[in-house]
Amino acid sequence: MIVSATEMLKKAKAGHYAVGQFNINNLEWTKAILLTSEEQKSPVILGVSEGAGKYMTGFKTVAAMVRAMDETLGITVPVALHLDHGTYEGVKACVEAGFSSVMFDGSSYDIDENVAKTTELVKLAHDNGLSIEAEVGAIGGEEDGVVGAGECADPAECKRIADLGVDMLAAGIGNIHGIYPENWAGLSFETLDAIQQQTGEMPLVLHGGSGIPDEMVKKAITLGVSKVNVNTECQLVFAQATREYIEAGKDKQGKGYDPRKLLLPGFEAIKEEVKVKMELFGSVGKA
Ligand code: 13P
Repeated sequence: MIVSATEMLKKAKAGHYAVGQFNINNLEWTKAILLTSEEQKSPVILGVSEGAGKYMTGFKTVAAMVRAMDETLGITVPVALHLDHGTYEGVKACVEAGFSSVMFDGSSYDIDENVAKTTELVKLAHDNGLSIEAEVGAIGGEEDGVVGAGECADPAECKRIADLGVDMLAAGIGNIHGIYPENWAGLSFETLDAIQQQTGEMPLVLHGGSGIPDEMVKKAITLGVSKVNVNTECQLVFAQATREYIEAGKDKQGKGYDPRKLLLPGFEAIKEEVKVKMELFGSVGKA
């Protein structure tokens, strides 16, 4: 069931658990995540970066694939199709294309311009029945060419953006996309606590969910995080499972080269990873 992320995140915030956003790259990714969500009776958010959207030949293709797959697989749990780190133009394109949720990442603008653009896009999203995520304080690391320094957001700026009526707020708390470096300082719970105190009921979003120690993720959820984004870890388990299949020479046995066989171990690996994350986030059985 494709829905906006508003209700599932309100419930998560009130119930002290988080909904996972898992980024999709192709049909196998989408199918693996949808099937696991249904099996675990968990709400889910499918994240699509602008780069992944382009890779899949555009947002219209993505929306058509996800909506048709959701229907033909008979998915009953709430599923949001969400633009990840959208530009101003990207948000408009996804509203047109049939997404149910968008993120406008205005963190590279100064706060006044971020406020102005977010205000306009909140109206556009809500007029069309979509939920919208905004960002304050760049998330570190590199994602699809978007490079952030891993800064901690200013809680007062978070309140300013939260008050614009966004449905969820991403705020930098020392988190970064991709693999965490050895000398990573960890999440700043002080910052997270201060942000939650300023923003109250607003569901907070933890980007860069791959590789954060489980205990830190759990603590972040107790401090108001209601959505955790995971991309890299699914990519790593997919690559690992595919490599093992090929290194074992299985693509050379019988029709092991058939993509439906070749991509199966990676597909199964994503399913397992998503299940483990849903258990960690506490969203199992919450659909
Ligand atoms: P990771 O790739 O580090 O899991 O981050 C995903 C993310 O935050 C998507 O916005």
